[in-house]
Order: sequence, then C-alpha cells, then structure tokens
Amino acid sequence: MFQVRLKECSGIVEAMLDQVFETLPDSQVKDAMRYASTGGKRLRAFLVLESAALFHLPVAVSGYAAVAVELLHAYSLIHDDLPCMDDDDLRRGLPTVHVKWDQATAVLAGDGLQALAFECLTLLDLDPKIRINLIYGLAKAAGASGMVLGQAQDIAAETAPAPLTLEQITELQSNKTGALIRWSASAGAIMAAKDEKPLLDYANALGLAFQIQDDILDVEGDTALVGKRLQKDFSAGKATFVTLLGLDGAKTRAKELVALAQNALDCYDGDATALQEAARFVISRQS
Ligand code: IPE
Ligand code: IPE
Ligand code: MG
Ligand code: MG
Ligand code: MG
Repeated sequence: MFQVRLKECSGIVEAMLDQVFETLPDSQVKDAMRYASTGGKRLRAFLVLESAALFHLPVAVSGYAAVAVELLHAYSLIHDDLPCMDDDDLRRGLPTVHVKWDQATAVLAGDGLQALAFECLTLLDLDPKIRINLIYGLAKAAGASGMVLGQAQDIAAETAPAPLTLEQITELQSNKTGALIRWSASAGAIMAAKDEKPLLDYANALGLAFQIQDDILDVEGDTALVGKRLQKDFSAGKATFVTLLGLDGAKTRAKELVALAQNALDCYDGDATALQEAARFVISRQS
C-alpha cells in the first residue's frame, strides 16, 4: 500500500510542478530550479498528502502544501551540495546544480525555490487563519530555529574540537532533517484544525530513524542506488549516529524508532496504515 501511495504522490507532485513552473518566465535559473526539483523519493510530499487524507482532505486542498515542501527541500539540497557546504557533485544520480551550471546559478536557484515554496502555500484553498498557520510553521521549520540551524550545527561540528555527543547529534538532526519532516507530517492536522500531537510524535521518531538510515547509507550504501557520493561523513571526520552507536547499534535504534512511530498512530484505528508502513520504508530504503 505504501509503495503505491508513494508513487501516486510522486505523480501528483510532478504534474503540479509542471503547472507551477509554467508561471515563471524562461531563464537559466528557472531551468536549474526545475532540474533540482525533479526526482527524489517525495517522502515529504507523501507525508503531507497522507496526513491530509487521514482527515479526509483531498489533493485539491493539500496539493500545494506537498509541492511547497518538496520545493523547499530541493532548495536545501542545492545549497547543501555547494562547495562551501558539503561540496558534492552528485545528487539524485545527476550532477549537482553548481556542477551542471555554476555556483551563482545554484545559490539563486535555491533562493528562487524557497520563495516559490512560500508562494505555493499562499495558493492553498483554506481558511486564511489556517493558511497562515501553515506558512508560519514552514517558515519556522525551514529557518534559523529549524533546518538552517541544523545545517549550521552540522557544519560547525566538522571543526569542533571534540566529536558531538549522542544528545547533541540528536538535537542537530531534529533541526536539520526533523523540522521539515515534522511540518510535513503535521500539515494534515493543521489543515483540518485537528490535534497535531499524534502526528508530531510519529514525525519525531520517523525523522530520527530517517537520519539514522541516511548515516547508515553513507557507510554501507551503493552510490548507484543512493544517487549521491558516499563515505562523505566518514571522510569529513563527522560524528554521526553510526560513529556513536556503531553500525549494529544504529540499526537497532532505528528499529526501535520505527516501532515508536507506528505506535504513535494507533489512535487512528487503522486509517494511518500507509503512514505506519512509511516508517518501515524509511529504515529499509536503499536510496
Ligand atoms: C536527503 O533527503 C537529505 C536529508 C535530509 C538526509 P532525501 O533522502 O529525502 O532526498 P530525496 O528527496 O529522496 O532525494
Ligand atoms: C542535508 O543533510 C540535510 C539538508 C539538506 C537540510 P546531509 O548533508 O546529510 O544530506 P545528504 O546526505 O547530502 O543528502
Ligand atoms: Mg550536509
Ligand atoms: Mg550533504
Ligand atoms: Mg547525509
């Protein structure tokens, strides 16, 4: 069920992206933005659409929120790959934006994608108060109390005198990867003006499991499948969940988190099966 839904989400996002990009004038930066927003697993879009479906909100209502988070995520990846950040030349199996074009184009494409993400949220056909809640939430999740903070903590860790502790890594990841995942999974409840708590508990465990698997793939993944350069954390001498817990310890922790994520949604009496299956996917994924 999960794989079918994920594929559907991917199709929905691709079609909506075509529409959204049609509104932009032709330019090199537009081409780079479209290039960077293509592909990927679309897990964040899935979380938005599926959490919305839990409250019987159709794609016609939730679609722009799913597109928004994928645009924002694409921006974060372009900037993450820049030479001044992780200096990566491969993303989603293709050359990164600064390699295919140049660094100025990559910076601007990221900027453009972030603005476009918020533009998409303004198009949501929802009560204005709810729409503002969603926009506020994404701004908080993306900015210097969320993803940007996590990215800064991650970069700082590379030159820290001592490796980070497990507690520090957990906090860093909760900002770097967790914030966008939390926003995505709670978006349905926000749109439906329902209690977000079960979805936030789910997202906290899911986000952590997701990042542990990212760290595991960095060590034992296959570049051809993952579509990005591996052993990067290792060569940067970074403390990760794997260096702190060991490979087996990291895998055990990831499994415990999947159970936690799944249990958090038991209160929906079987209506959240696809979201629960997503938790298992997050730690078994090879890309
Ligand atoms: C990669 O995210 C960056 C992290 C937050 C670890 P994804 O693994 O979701 O990347 P795509 O969207 O599928 O390419
Ligand atoms: C990047 O984390 C997360 C964001 C883009 C916010 P990583 O640097 O670990 O992601 P990958 O491994 O390059 O995808
Ligand atoms: Mg990084
Ligand atoms: Mg990176
Ligand atoms: Mg990584």
